[in-house]
Amino acid sequence: MQPRITTSTLMKMKAEKKKITALTAYDFPFARMLDQAGIEIILVGDSLGMVVQGKDNTLPVTMDEAIYHTSMVSRACSFSMVIGDMPFMSYQGSLDKAIDNAGRFLKEAGAAAVKLEGGAGVCPVIHALSRVGIPVQAHIGLTPQSVHQMGGFKVQRDEERLLKDAKDVEEAGAFSVVLEGIPSAISAKITQSLHIPTIGIGAGVECDGQILVLHDMIGINDRFLPKFVKKYADLAGAAKKGVEQYINEVKAGEFPSKDYEYK
Ligand code: KIV
Repeated sequence: MQPRITTSTLMKMKAEKKKITALTAYDFPFARMLDQAGIEIILVGDSLGMVVQGKDNTLPVTMDEAIYHTSMVSRACSFSMVIGDMPFMSYQGSLDKAIDNAGRFLKEAGAAAVKLEGGAGVCPVIHALSRVGIPVQAHIGLTPQSVHQMGGFKVQRDEERLLKDAKDVEEAGAFSVVLEGIPSAISAKITQSLHIPTIGIGAGVECDGQILVLHDMIGINDRFLPKFVKKYADLAGAAKKGVEQYINEVKAGEFPSKDYEYK
């Protein structure tokens, strides 16, 4: 069995210029499949609000829902590092509340780290969590929890601010940073200027690793897909075909045939 991925493994991979792979998952069967396939990081993203719960954005996801989904994912993994995504308003209020909520991901849900969104403004939280032994993955650029403040899901191009955010979160103690919706030339500069690994989504190939939302890249989510998503499979198409065949066979009295009966 391969040793489990840790924050040190990820730092070593950056130093050795080995690309890091990450995907989201929200339940046991998919997490098991990803773990067995050899994905280094599984993020239980608050994207679950959109791709699992069918909501318009990630804001309504609650701590209890995030813990529930992270527990299912953790139970499935022996290789991948599991990261729990802190929901909107679970870390913005007070540092004590942020520590309590982040602690739940490690204590109750079996995660090895948490992710939270924001740059310079969330550094006190990153620092406080790191100090009590909770590894934090930062997330800068297009931060979906700030959708209303950004005026939509928009590519972020303010190079000076992005470079500063990246430096600040590293200094505050983050072990890694997600770069979302950032032009590739800026992501390349950020990646070169940091010691911690950058994980890109819509941020070009120069990042130290890549992450996508699982349901987008395997074709389960048939709603809007951003430009950066490559569809690697069409699971919805395959599943629908199977269900249609089942309907036809039941209606025609062909299923269950003798092979599927008890004697
Ligand atoms: O919630 C999520 O899935 C994320 C990733 C897209 C990085 O934050």
